[in-house]
Amino acid sequence: MKVIQYSEEVCRERLELLRVEALKTLGTIYEAGLDHASAGKIITLATSISDLVGERDFPTAIREFREYAPFPLTHPFMVAFLGLMICKKLDWNSDRTLLAVGVGGLLHDVGMTKLPEHVKATHPNDLSPEDLVQYHKHCEHGMNIVAAIPIIPVAVQQILYQHHENSGKGFPQGLTNVKVYPLAKVVCLSDRFARFLILNELGPIEGLKKFVAVKEELQLHDPEIVRAFIKSFIKDEKTR
Ligand SMILES: [Fe+2]
Ligand SMILES: [Fe+2]
Repeated sequence: MKVIQYSEEVCRERLELLRVEALKTLGTIYEAGLDHASAGKIITLATSISDLVGERDFPTAIREFREYAPFPLTHPFMVAFLGLMICKKLDWNSDRTLLAVGVGGLLHDVGMTKLPEHVKATHPNDLSPEDLVQYHKHCEHGMNIVAAIPIIPVAVQQILYQHHENSGKGFPQGLTNVKVYPLAKVVCLSDRFARFLILNELGPIEGLKKFVAVKEELQLHDPEIVRAFIKSFIKDEKTR
């Protein structure tokens, strides 16, 4: 069956609309906390982002993406669409998986809202050992926040708890990759790439070339997920 697809231009417009909507919803959550109503909006947003990412022209549209401010709110939006790009390329296409990664991406750092202001405002590399312990707790805080909202899929709890685990070098448990939940691995890579783009002020394609050239970075992740991540920026000529 022939499916009508969005043009590249429409994909770009939809992406911008969803970015604005995500900023609004995440802004409310970061100020007032996550409740049933805001969780419902996050679920709707995750579904819309997933649909858009499935468009054939999305990989071309994403090449132009450069709206990186403000960091704390744009970053989770980017993690959501990057994670969904990776899942689709891996053919991890069930509604449950896509919803978990979309919601998990949008809310992955929601536990930061429980941290003291000075910890939130400082780069982890510049934190004292005591404050670093606090910062590492944002994973557990995030898991507890989403666990209190029944409409959020249970899988999101594990994504939030493990989104900084990689190759034994991450936190909070320092798990090796075989022990990390696969969807948390997807969010981990998306998180690190989104942060890399924003901090280095690079566009996605230029950033991708530089990111995959960092051997120490690639060693943190599953090769299968890295391959899907790279391929997700290439347009698939097949229609959906
Ligand atoms: Fe985080
Ligand atoms: Fe993050």
